[in-house]
Amino acid sequence: MNIAIACDHAALELKNQMAEHLRKVGHDVKDHGVKTLDSVDYPDYAKLVVKDVQAGAAQVGVLLCGTGQGMAMAANKAKGIRAALLSDTFSARMAREHNNANVVCFGARVLGPELVRECLDAFLAASFAGGKHEKRVGKIMDMQGC
Ligand code: RB5
Repeated sequence: MNIAIACDHAALELKNQMAEHLRKVGHDVKDHGVKTLDSVDYPDYAKLVVKDVQAGAAQVGVLLCGTGQGMAMAANKAKGIRAALLSDTFSARMAREHNNANVVCFGARVLGPELVRECLDAFLAASFAGGKHEKRVGKIMDMQGC
């Protein structure tokens, strides 16, 4: 799978760990930074990943900041994006099966790397269930016109 990943200064180490993990399990990972601990504005990095997902260059985007909140808020403003802020493996699976999320967000100041790795694995192993969820996801996307 093609996966785009980015973080702000608060999540540099976690981003590097997750990029390495994703590559190790066979994904093609495009790392949009950051590469240093210099303070940045997380929406700028959310935008880079979102653009890859919108263009189809990435099937999944991964965004990490201190809490994951800012990244999720920024990504969810973008057309066609369904970003899920994750902190447990059940929600990770459901974010794919029921919500067909195409971006996942994590907080590096909240979660440890083992849990984030498990959440990523659970999300990527799942697939959208379709059926009644199709209509609901369509209604989520209609919210972008509100
Ligand atoms: C940066 O200090 C912090 O605000 C950011 O990483 C993130 O937590 C925002 O949601």
